Amino acid sequence: MRIDVFTLFPDWFDWFKTQRHVTNAMALGSSLECVDYREHTPLNWGQVDDTPFGGGAGMVLRVDVVEAALRARYGEDPVATRERRRVIALTPGGRMLDDGVVEELAAEPELTLLCGRYEGFDERILDHFCSDQLSIGRYVLAGGELAAMVVCDAVLRKLPGALGHVESAREESFSAALGGAPEYPHYTRPADWRGWEVPGVLLSGHHARIRDWRHEQSRARAGTGEDDSLS
Ligand SMILES: C[S@@+](CC[C@H](N)C(=O)[O-])C[C@H]1O[C@@H](n2cnc3c(N)ncnc32)[C@H](O)[C@@H]1O
Repeated sequence: MRIDVFTLFPDWFDWFKTQRHVTNAMALGSSLECVDYREHTPLNWGQVDDTPFGGGAGMVLRVDVVEAALRARYGEDPVATRERRRVIALTPGGRMLDDGVVEELAAEPELTLLCGRYEGFDERILDHFCSDQLSIGRYVLAGGELAAMVVCDAVLRKLPGALGHVESAREESFSAALGGAPEYPHYTRPADWRGWEVPGVLLSGHHARIRDWRHEQSRARAGTGEDDSLS
């Protein structure tokens, strides 16, 4: 998986790139590289944005600036780039990120993520250079960087070998293994803390009963269990 993030703040990703599942994915051949729009702007003084036509507050990320950055990275017209790789703009109103979308993206060999800032993108960037728009929730962040990190985090941990334990990613919230339901509860030592006891079945050593109990709990959390009193 090769991920390119286009941003005005590449430094934001320095910390993210040191996280264990990210370094694991990198060690297994994936990459996460940032491209700074400002380094490729054809305008003077590092200009990347401009005032909106029609008036209004804020600044808009310019289409010529984003085109220059995409051309510099991929050596072709960005209209062609989106035909051969997913070029995804982070936008508050985009398709909502969920586990299904993450699975879909994790199956791609390459991803391009475009981070907006200020008032957002000139609409022609979205119309002509992007294959998708993704939102991480119906609220507005100051920029697309945190949203891009959320996407990278969720996608990279799906890759084989990124997590220490393969099982961790197989049976977790919203996975196919749990029928799309939230995960069941976990407990660890001590088995009794202030009288709050761990459910006895988990101490029984009976694997089949433990598995059944967990799946019941998961279904109950989704509101699809036969016995909702378990939740
Ligand atoms: C301040 S926001 C722009 C908001 C825009 N004026 C609007 O009302 O939709 C600046 C940038 O942050 C990113 N962003 C903000 N909230 C987001 C969200 N919930 N999901 C994905 N990206 C988001 C986008 O890249 C956006 O272009």
